[in-house]
Amino acid sequence: MTPSDLAFDKQHIWHPYTSLISPLPCIPIVSAHGVRLTLADGRELIDGMSSWWSTIHGYNHPRLNQAAKDQIDKMSHVMFGGITHPSAVALCRKLVAMTAAPLDRVFISDSGSVAVEVALKMAIQYWVAKGSPRKNRMLTIEHGYHGDTFAAMSVCDPVNGMHDLFSGVLSLQLFAKAPQIGFDQPWDDSDIESLERLFQLHHQEAAAIILEPIVQGAGGMRIYHPNYLKAVRRLCDKYDVLLICDEIATGFGRTGKLFAYEHSDIVPDILCVGKALTGGYMSLAATITSQAIGEMVCNTAAGVFMHGPTFMGNPLACAVAAESLSMLEEGNWQHQVLAIESQLKAQFKPFSMLTNVRDVRVLGAIGVIELTEAVEMESISAAFVEQGIWVRPFGKLVYIMPQYIISEQDLTALTTAIYNVIQKLND
Ligand SMILES: Cc1ncc(COP(=O)(O)O)c(C=O)c1O
Repeated sequence: MTPSDLAFDKQHIWHPYTSLISPLPCIPIVSAHGVRLTLADGRELIDGMSSWWSTIHGYNHPRLNQAAKDQIDKMSHVMFGGITHPSAVALCRKLVAMTAAPLDRVFISDSGSVAVEVALKMAIQYWVAKGSPRKNRMLTIEHGYHGDTFAAMSVCDPVNGMHDLFSGVLSLQLFAKAPQIGFDQPWDDSDIESLERLFQLHHQEAAAIILEPIVQGAGGMRIYHPNYLKAVRRLCDKYDVLLICDEIATGFGRTGKLFAYEHSDIVPDILCVGKALTGGYMSLAATITSQAIGEMVCNTAAGVFMHGPTFMGNPLACAVAAESLSMLEEGNWQHQVLAIESQLKAQFKPFSMLTNVRDVRVLGAIGVIELTEAVEMESISAAFVEQGIWVRPFGKLVYIMPQYIISEQDLTALTTAIYNVIQKLND
């Protein structure tokens, strides 16, 4: 990339969550392989982000490349209205087999946010069909993140999600306190009290509760106790409210289970997946529910589920996703994620000794270092690049979720470089 390309980028192209007036610098990446990103000047960075939880098998994987090439030679895209194709069927067969019974009805969509919109619409339409149209609001918990489209935003944490900016436009949803008890801490029923009160007060107007099971990602990287989710399932059954698990970040092995709801031995009524679905090759997501709920959703006067994006079931994305799921089915991810977890637990220990570190938490292939103060994004990003790694913190959180294929040496290099940078923040 030339200096003129970078100048054009800075002046004309919006990047995620950035200002057009004073954009933060972007680093030019020209290729990627395995766990490494290659900069335009030839330097390589070890990637700690898996491109926002998605590239679980690493970049440029020969099997995923081949699946894409094979599909391109047949057809990259065909509309899904009135048409089906082998890649969509192969993908959905795998999704049905991988997820818990009775989840077996799949709606494929373009991105995580859309999968959440679809889930929320399904829940509302379900209650309309059941003759309870008043049940059209959502329960959720603080510190959640579910995407940036309007309905998804309405169930994101009100502060992090800047609800003030959109007041009067966003639907007003019902928020309980986020779980406080960590994954390994002793459980206490008081953690669920705030949510239980919300159910008692509002179940007659609540279509569903939506939450990220076990790990709240972009809303704070919080890892909570499996009993919390068990209690949520019980409350849903008691008060007749649907349970939507948003596994867009946690799904496909990231937390050490194929799906995070397995930590609590529960099954949601509606499940959203995305991100790692295609091994991070391209955007694709799915919303999965049961036959009973799916059929009820279609039992309104309209007789259909009112959603159908242009690129629904895109064959190219489905073919790559089906291959990515085949790789997961082979099972190696379990050893890889476990190995990452124990290495992170060992190598994150020294971080707790640093005076600018407030908390350290690890689950599966997720490692989080919570600092005492928010980082200065531009300087810390530059320091990480200087150390040969790609890590993108937010607020007080420096976190990594490496590719499952990362070697012990590369993970050591990653955690050592992070330590060096965080330690220097103290100076
Ligand atoms: C839990 C969760 N839900 C939904 C989304 C939105 O997905 P997308 O960015 O593909 O729209 C994200 C993205 O980070 C997420 O982490």
